[in-house]
Amino acid sequence: MTDDKRSRNEHIKEDSRFLRGTIAEGLEDVATGAISEDDAQLTKFHGTYLQDDRDLRPERAKKKLEKAFSFMIRLRLPGGLASPKQWLALDAIAGTYANHTLRLTTRETFQFHGVIKSNMRRTMQAINAALLDTIAACGDVNRNVMSASNPFLSKAHAAAHDLAVAISEHLLPKTGAYHEIWLDGEEVDANGKPVKKKEAKEEKEPIYGPHYLPRKFKTVIAVPPSNDVDIFAHDLGYIAIVEKGKVVGYNVTVGGGMGMTHGEPDTFPRTADMLGFCTPEQAVDVAEKVLTVQRDWGNRENRKRARLKYTIEDRGLDAFRAEVERRLGFKLGKPRPYRFEQTGDPIGWQQGADKKWHLTLFIENGRVKDVPGHTLRAALREIAEFHTGAFVLTGNQNLIIANVSAKAKSKIDAVLKEHGITPYASSGMRRSSMACVALPTCGLALAESERFLPEVITALEDVLDKAGLRDDDIVIRMTGCPNGCARPYLAEIGLVGKNPGLYNLYLGAAFDGSRLNKLYAEDVDKAQMLGLLEPMLARYAKEREEGERFGDFVIRAGYVRATTAGNQFHADVELVKLVT
Ligand code: HEM
Ligand code: SF4
Repeated sequence: MTDDKRSRNEHIKEDSRFLRGTIAEGLEDVATGAISEDDAQLTKFHGTYLQDDRDLRPERAKKKLEKAFSFMIRLRLPGGLASPKQWLALDAIAGTYANHTLRLTTRETFQFHGVIKSNMRRTMQAINAALLDTIAACGDVNRNVMSASNPFLSKAHAAAHDLAVAISEHLLPKTGAYHEIWLDGEEVDANGKPVKKKEAKEEKEPIYGPHYLPRKFKTVIAVPPSNDVDIFAHDLGYIAIVEKGKVVGYNVTVGGGMGMTHGEPDTFPRTADMLGFCTPEQAVDVAEKVLTVQRDWGNRENRKRARLKYTIEDRGLDAFRAEVERRLGFKLGKPRPYRFEQTGDPIGWQQGADKKWHLTLFIENGRVKDVPGHTLRAALREIAEFHTGAFVLTGNQNLIIANVSAKAKSKIDAVLKEHGITPYASSGMRRSSMACVALPTCGLALAESERFLPEVITALEDVLDKAGLRDDDIVIRMTGCPNGCARPYLAEIGLVGKNPGLYNLYLGAAFDGSRLNKLYAEDVDKAQMLGLLEPMLARYAKEREEGERFGDFVIRAGYVRATTAGNQFHADVELVKLVT
């Protein structure tokens, strides 16, 4: 068809026989560590990305070897909840098949890096044996559903978690491709015993259809006053309205998203809008209808404009709401008052409503690994051996060791100490920091992130010390490219990679995650970013008003204007000139 303007990915999905493509054949091909380009689009729906070690590219090219291919595998883990037994299983997988680290992501799940093709099936089977899966962790589908970290904190948190699980299950693709390709058509029952997956006679995707969604779709549930899921960054969000300890309903948000492309002003991050209010019983249906309107209205020609945020920009919130309500068969209620205070996690021990203890551990950029004197992976494995509660991953790449008795509390403290681990960060800025993975694994990275942000913060800590700001929470986030996996556009200080060693500096997001930042300076290297931030932080320390946050101060002080809508995010004043 010559007038078919749909993007290439739409054809790949259509021709894939519900996400099968030639993945199974590609896995058998021992001549290469890679799979075909089309299959690499399809494996995302199965939770895995083909990558290569970019550190090794020059050396391999010199030797005329193919790239050092491996796979990143991401789990589906609604609400970030894992049992100690599952932790041990995942730790063992990291050691046997991956790069000996676990990555806790900004969306409450685990990633493995460095799994080679010949180990892919075994790894997926080991994940399945731990009663976990990777279905829809990437791809044009509803991704991992996040909920307010720690379901054990209160009844409302438990309800938010249950809703995350219900939405995740309801919106799961129904294709048998996953079990067929990775698990030899088997799945495990609740006791971990393999059982044959029932063959669907006539395969259909009742919710998605054969083309799935135009683009990824991300859902979160928040329990105020914490906005630890960064609700305004996501396609679909639920803000729990809690009365007398009970969730009476949810304010529903739509159309948030982070990704943009440098130099293309019709792409931009956007904070979500308020759609309306629904009862707990209506919440799953609302998710389905929001998703199907986006399925039908979303842009399938240009993937850069295919997220729900652009559908809402282009068609208008009122039209979108009317169509969702038409499909629901009822009107949504008026949003109820709520108040967010912060996006960060309460690091340290905390006691829940039932008097059980919970330890939130600061884990820099979510990387669980052993280094001499700081053997975090070993410590967590040791804790998982005796811990009877749960592990909960937070949206800030941190980890909660949840449901701990007073007796076990001191034992956990002792194990951590023995391994050189403290739960705390060295400063408020580090505590409030996030970096995406970027190099060496991410194929899209234009600059370093996880390996670079820690040293930027170390340098800034000197500045913070001088200004007396060491303990102040100042939210700083870095990504290696504008896709925004660590949500840099919602950070008081955002650093987005543009070229090796060079970043765009964004300032002025709200501490509670409700307002985007704005571009302040382009292409800054480390010395320049420090040079720009030092006087600003010094002024902030001296001139801030009672309780004023850094993100608000930079607007009042005139460094940037406030961003009030997504498409106003691009700099609207002359950018700061750099002295080179
Ligand atoms: C066009 C947009 C995007 C593309 C193409 C993209 C692609 C990728 C890729 C290839 C990785 C793997 C990196 C690695 O582990 O080596 C990754 C990681 C990740 N992305 Fe994205 N991403 C996009 C936007 C986003 C956004 C907006 C979010 C969240 C709001 C997000 C959340 C994540 C998370 C949680 C990870 C795991 C690592 C981490 O915690 O940083 N992504 N993304
Ligand atoms: S923000 Fe860019 S560099 Fe970082 S993980 Fe995402 S896609 Fe890769």
